[in-house]
Amino acid sequence: MKIHFIGGGNMARAIITGLKQNNFDTSAITVLELDIQKRQALAAELNVQVTDTYAEFRNTDIIVLAVKPQQLKAVCAELKPFLKAQLLISIAAGIRIVDLARWLGDYHAIVRVMPNTPAQIQAGISALSAGTGVTDAQKLQAESILAAVGSTLWLESEAQMDAVTAISGSGPAYVFYFIEALQEAAMKLGLNANAANLLALQTVAGASLLATKSPDDIKTLRAQVTSRGGTTEQGILTLESENFKEIIFRAAKAAAEKSVRLGDQLAQ
Ligand SMILES: NC(=O)c1ccc[n+]([C@@H]2O[C@H](COP(=O)([O-])OP(=O)(O)OC[C@H]3O[C@@H](n4cnc5c(N)ncnc54)[C@H](OP(=O)(O)O)[C@@H]3O)[C@@H](O)[C@H]2O)c1
Repeated sequence: MKIHFIGGGNMARAIITGLKQNNFDTSAITVLELDIQKRQALAAELNVQVTDTYAEFRNTDIIVLAVKPQQLKAVCAELKPFLKAQLLISIAAGIRIVDLARWLGDYHAIVRVMPNTPAQIQAGISALSAGTGVTDAQKLQAESILAAVGSTLWLESEAQMDAVTAISGSGPAYVFYFIEALQEAAMKLGLNANAANLLALQTVAGASLLATKSPDDIKTLRAQVTSRGGTTEQGILTLESENFKEIIFRAAKAAAEKSVRLGDQLAQ
């Protein structure tokens, strides 16, 4: 399986690192990156081929579009003459399959993916949606590439991608914000910065690992820490009286709405 990446930035690097750690032969990967320093670094660190032209794209199986959303329309115009039956995987936030297909001259072998930043340590979650021209074998190929950087999930419809963007795409930032809040609370309660950092980080990491590994559901796990009349109960009562879940919903809704607006703008 030969894979070409267009764009050698953070996300391309994360996916290639994941493939390398899963024993994929990275010499079968070529990265088209315009920045010469980034090209040299990618070749040296990840043992990939690098290029600055589209000429070899005719002879590849899979093309991963890994440039910023705003750069994608111009990239599609350059790529269009070299398309035969390759599978295109787009990880660009907000760009809909219908718009990619149009920019590529009615080309429909496209899988749209929304990965997230924990992909950098192979702990990501990628949501996938396939265009009408994608074969079952190509779906499996797309899934196996993204599985190298974490879990994968096929969506029932591409329209769900805005919700996915709001939950798992933006989600790491909400969690980092929560950790920040926990650290600040720890310091206000008299702990030093080092202790606050360690306690907040390890609590979130440990709780999240326990939730992933435990056979109990999340509500049961919460109930197990929240004894009647105890300290945790007081904390949870405060979160509930301040409508914490409603705040999280409003944050996710704002992100999803922004994703729709960005998709509309980028389609122009
Ligand atoms: N990072 C995330 O959390 C995340 C999550 C989900 C989806 N995504 C999506 O992943 C995509 C890549 O994001 P990223 O964070 O990896 O961005 P990035 O680090 O900026 O990577 C994009 C790379 O593409 C290069 N590039 C620009 N135009 C090019 C062209 N015409 N041909 C070849 N290379 C070109 C850029 O070079 P220059 O810097 O020189 O322009 C840059 O190295 C985006 O579409 C983003 O929406 C990212």
